[in-house]
Amino acid sequence: MENKKEQLSSIREYVYNLFHDDTTGHDFHHMKRVARIATTLARKERADLFICESAAWLHDIGDKKLFANPELARNEMDVFLAKIGVKRNTIEHIYKAMNDVSFSKGNIPATLEGKVVQDADRLDAMGAIGIARVFAFGGTREQLIYHDEKPENTSIQHFYDKLLKLKSLMNTQAAIEIAQERHVFMENYLDQFFLEWKS
Ligand code: ADP
Ligand code: NI
Repeated sequence: MENKKEQLSSIREYVYNLFHDDTTGHDFHHMKRVARIATTLARKERADLFICESAAWLHDIGDKKLFANPELARNEMDVFLAKIGVKRNTIEHIYKAMNDVSFSKGNIPATLEGKVVQDADRLDAMGAIGIARVFAFGGTREQLIYHDEKPENTSIQHFYDKLLKLKSLMNTQAAIEIAQERHVFMENYLDQFFLEWKS
């Protein structure tokens, strides 16, 4: 049995072991930033801090893009959470918060904690860090940066397909404010990108 602080530090270590060598933009530092942003949002929104922080750390475990055997990854996580003494109903609440996070699934999470974690994950896909992640991800998919005649499936196209839409998809007021600033930064980045592209 561990107290909540010890449990969070065990979770952090568990996540470090799984993600430290990822090169697709889903590395340990993505999980760390999502955990930190989720904690900030949770305080402002009066959501459950422990659920938000742990679900944020764990949110990409079992993602089909990242795990060869997603079900095994989820099962191992379940055994781990029980082993460090997280109560069964808390574990279930964490899963609920994790499950609807993905942008690709397009779900609005049912719980406030799910909304917080989804917003935190989406904020990390925006702004300067979000821009870095697009090109990191694009590189691992052997995707072009951009192409005049065929912009489809380029990393720049991904801004229009996803990143510029995220601002309007935030669930919490606290996230809307941060998203606004990051959105403007991405618009300015694209202006400069096309200025240089055409020069
Ligand atoms: P989720 O894992 O929440 O479903 P995504 O897989 O769409 O979200 O996005 C995770 C990260 O990968 C984000 O930073 C996103 O911008 C980036 N990403 C996803 N798809 C692409 C793509 N086609 N090109 C470039 N970056 C991408
Ligand atoms: Ni994520």
